Amino acid sequence: MHIIKVRDYSQMSSLAAQLFQEQLQEKPGSAICCPTGSTPLGTYETLCAKREDINMSSAYFFNMDEYARLDESNKNSFNYFLDRNLYEPYNLRKEQINRLQYPEGATVELLEAYDATINEIGGFDLLILGIGADGHIAFNMPASVFSSGTHLEKLSKQTISDNARHFSQDEPIPEYAVTIGMKAVMSAKKILLLVSGATKTGAFKKLINCSDIDPQFPASILHLHKNVTVIVDCAAYGC
Ligand code: GLP
Repeated sequence: MHIIKVRDYSQMSSLAAQLFQEQLQEKPGSAICCPTGSTPLGTYETLCAKREDINMSSAYFFNMDEYARLDESNKNSFNYFLDRNLYEPYNLRKEQINRLQYPEGATVELLEAYDATINEIGGFDLLILGIGADGHIAFNMPASVFSSGTHLEKLSKQTISDNARHFSQDEPIPEYAVTIGMKAVMSAKKILLLVSGATKTGAFKKLINCSDIDPQFPASILHLHKNVTVIVDCAAYGC
């Protein structure tokens, strides 16, 4: 695990955007799996500001997770987030985007088909991750099975309460989500983990200090991956 400590959120976002750009220069047809949340937003903003210099027209994108039964027109939907913050500014074509969705009435076949596509391309070339305060990655909650494919998860109480800030008072906060599983995480060729802010200090310290791979702390599995870069800002590092 290669850890890069940076001054602040803005420096983390610039560096992450630079590594994203380098990935595309190295392999224009890269398959990139993208997260949502406050952490990667600055990276997407930086990428969008550099639209003139970055060519994404041959790349393929995979959405990492999504709330179950939340329409993609809802502004809290992760499909909505990635459309607005990355795909639309870059004018990506429909066929470049792999959408993970679980609408009302969906069945497991939909999730199996997502895995089939990930397998067909031989895994992501680049997987960008954030981390939850409880150590979850994507929506793989504590106690997740490490051999899982794309699946439906019941969200932990902490995650539901962390995410409540995005929903207005009269809106129900989703309790279930679909997510890529640990199999897809571990088959990625390169992983970039972004950690920012004082609310993530506990998770970051636990990650770098854990000597055991522990399903109660999902991010611990990253110690078994050969190519993980962590960009952490001072607030999260505790410096
Ligand atoms: C959600 C997402 C994760 C993300 C985490 C942290 O649970 N499913 O992929 O890493 O939130 O989000 P934030 O970056 O907003 O702290």
